Amino acid sequence: MTRPFIFINSAMSADGKISSTLHRQVRISGKEDLARVDLLRAESDAIMVGVGTVLADDPGLRVKSRELRDARRKKGQQEDPLRIIADSRARTPPSARLLGPGCLLAAAASAPQDRLEELSSKCEIIVCGKDQVDLEELFSRLYEMGIRRIMVEGGATLNWSLLKLGLVDELYVYVGAMLIGGEKAPTLVDGQGFKEHFPKLTLCSVQQLDEGVILRWKPKT
Ligand SMILES: NC(=O)c1ccc[n+]([C@@H]2O[C@H](COP(=O)([O-])OP(=O)(O)OC[C@H]3O[C@@H](n4cnc5c(N)ncnc54)[C@H](OP(=O)(O)O)[C@@H]3O)[C@@H](O)[C@H]2O)c1
Repeated sequence: MTRPFIFINSAMSADGKISSTLHRQVRISGKEDLARVDLLRAESDAIMVGVGTVLADDPGLRVKSRELRDARRKKGQQEDPLRIIADSRARTPPSARLLGPGCLLAAAASAPQDRLEELSSKCEIIVCGKDQVDLEELFSRLYEMGIRRIMVEGGATLNWSLLKLGLVDELYVYVGAMLIGGEKAPTLVDGQGFKEHFPKLTLCSVQQLDEGVILRWKPKT
């Protein structure tokens, strides 16, 4: 399958949690790391999240720095990369911050028609997959649309599906100097988990940022 380059960027606590048992956004990284994330966004054609992250955090997913936005415009790009939501049942609230021009919602064929109609005035909609978004089909269609580099910003369930399908080329994991705990708190990768044939990673770089470290990994093929 021809698909874009796909990388995950996530921040987790020292005990591997990306949020708390309340499933609300936790500020894990600091100023230096947020600038790094902004640069990664600006260098991407699209930013993707699962609907769980939209419901929990209501992220805007825009490039924040004026300089980076200007640089994109000078290159003939939109100031913000395309914002993509994997949302099989079209559960994204119409008030979600990431909706609007430059947003694409990927839904399954079984999504309620009235939900799709309501959301279609606020974003582009792609239907792929019967009951759940077929990620391989989605990426192949995004490639045809000219999307070459996708940054995935969570959450735990979408990360799992992507890794299980072998669709991740790189992982940036910021490990923050804090503990969250809680057996029901989301971790970097949730889903059903691997029982055997655990994917192995190659460590590409380690860098201290703020009070934590950023690790860059590549899945071994
Ligand atoms: N620290 C960080 O860097 C960071 C970043 C992002 C999020 N978070 C945290 O992560 C938590 C949200 O994670 P989450 O696991 O609940 O939600 P998620 O991974 O953001 O979204 C999962 C949902 O996406 C939908 N989806 C559609 N197609 C899918 C597919 N092929 N595979 C998997 N999912 C698919 C599914 O719902 P449908 O079946 O209804 O479509 C699924 O339940 C929040 O607590 C948030 O704060 C942390």
